[in-house]
Amino acid sequence: MTELFVVSSQAEGGELAADRIAATMTSVGARFVLGVATGSTPQSIWRALAARCRSLDLSTVPAFALDEYWDIPEGHPESYQAVVEREITSPLGLNPQLVRVPGDDGKDSAAPSRYEQAIRAAGGITLQVLGIGRNGHIAFNEPGTSLASRCRIARLTQQTRRDNSRFFAAAEDVPSYCITQGIGTILEAERLVLAAYGLDKAHALAAALEGPVTSTVPASALQLHPGVTVIADAAAASQLKHAGNYLAAGAL
Ligand code: PGA
Repeated sequence: MTELFVVSSQAEGGELAADRIAATMTSVGARFVLGVATGSTPQSIWRALAARCRSLDLSTVPAFALDEYWDIPEGHPESYQAVVEREITSPLGLNPQLVRVPGDDGKDSAAPSRYEQAIRAAGGITLQVLGIGRNGHIAFNEPGTSLASRCRIARLTQQTRRDNSRFFAAAEDVPSYCITQGIGTILEAERLVLAAYGLDKAHALAAALEGPVTSTVPASALQLHPGVTVIADAAAASQLKHAGNYLAAGAL
């Protein structure tokens, strides 16, 4: 694990992540490719980045989303394609033609391999933003997912469907299947920035960072990646046993 920042608010976490994104953009220049994530956690990151729009031009940056519901009606406001457009593409001033969501070029069995190919053709993801599920998932890689998994169509657990039912009118409206980048896909990003807030995430975060590397906790695969930044509030970090051992900004 490279870095852990314990922040006092999601707004502070958002600014920190935006700093990381801006610094990475500056250091790699035109080859920067952003990996975006939906869900509640990254929202403060997108707000912080949107506020920097005047000084940070993202209009030429290709972006790839982590995942999408599979069995959701096209154009549904809670499809990740719609969420990405509403919460990320438009406020950040990204070029919609450079923003991809898995399955956006057709929901057929070849969609996952086309998405992998599109990421490769863009030169790979430079920095991937991640949240973590209460069950330790990253993207829609649920417990039991192979740590070598690639982009694919998968089934959502009941817990994830329940957790996401807050976005839908009725629990039974939550889709059952998804298309998601695999753990192996995510591990190929050059840098990972994972944010976690609230006591609900404490167990998953501790298991991910300090437990055994196991498919039971898909996020534990991050221990195998050399460039991870974790941003957590005190509640989410409360079950970490070794919080004092991580490297924090300015420590060197
Ligand atoms: P959340 O979701 O940010 O809405 O809690 C995180 C995730 O499931 O990856």
